[in-house]
Amino acid sequence: MAKVRSLTSINDLSKRDVEDILGVAKQIDEGKAKTLKGSPLLALFFEKQSTRTRMSFEAAMHRLGGSSIYLDATTTQFSRGESVEDTTRTLSLYTDIIAARLYSHDNIVRMARSTSVPVINALTDLEHPCQALSDIYTIKKLKGLRNIKVAFVGDIAANTANSLMLACTKLGVKVALVGPSAVKPSRLYLSRARKQGSVDVFNDIKKGLSGADVVYTDVFVSMGEEAERKKRLQEFKGYEVSKKAISYARKDAIFMHCLPAHRGVEVSADVIDGKQSVVWEQARNKMIIEQAILAWLLG
Ligand code: CP
Ligand code: NVA
Repeated sequence: MAKVRSLTSINDLSKRDVEDILGVAKQIDEGKAKTLKGSPLLALFFEKQSTRTRMSFEAAMHRLGGSSIYLDATTTQFSRGESVEDTTRTLSLYTDIIAARLYSHDNIVRMARSTSVPVINALTDLEHPCQALSDIYTIKKLKGLRNIKVAFVGDIAANTANSLMLACTKLGVKVALVGPSAVKPSRLYLSRARKQGSVDVFNDIKKGLSGADVVYTDVFVSMGEEAERKKRLQEFKGYEVSKKAISYARKDAIFMHCLPAHRGVEVSADVIDGKQSVVWEQARNKMIIEQAILAWLLG
């Protein structure tokens, strides 16, 4: 089986690769539409819920001149124990590229190892690389990437934080992870990110947000963690991005959230719906970056 390029982690990409994808995205954003040869077919294999990622991939493929088929993984033989390898082999017989949203990160790695077509990680428990690429595109567009500090507040152990810190440090953007002492960032992702650049960890929200150009948060209870909801909400008390919290950042700081958002939990309504918020531009850019990723992987 010929080796194909996949995107399971930000670390599958070199700095040059990320810059190339951002470059393709910029062209698409400027209206220089891309059309893929041969009307390729994308399989969307999702074990978890999604609004933006699913829709942006479907819209992206449509705009590139291809098409997509959505498969709810919970209705497939995979959910009854068919192996990742046999599932992937089957999907790749019928389609040209696969985007999968899975619980286990290990499964996306196994998918990428057993495929004859590119595999894209559309979120696992450990990473959300397409989100990070999209977010770095948004940050570049609105702030530039020179001498920038991104402060991620809240669940600093989650998939979004892991991929964002890898993407930022790859491009020379300083990162502050700001969260409660009970929630530790992944040692593996922290050490990978620190090999590329600067990541500081803070429990003190004021210190962590000081000088930040971007204030970013994600849900406190990720998909799959619902049983721990009560305990987690208790642990994250004091880490809501409120008007007061964002006032510790630079005056011109922007607020970002990958969405879905919970007003009054990880962010206050006056911040997410306020002047500093760029969450809708951020969500829109997912469709731009998904087009760029598909075009880049399918050549
Ligand atoms: N940001 C994001 O991945 O949103 P969805 O879960 O709606 O796809
Ligand atoms: N950390 C969140 C991201 C949702 C887009 C989750 O995994 O549910």
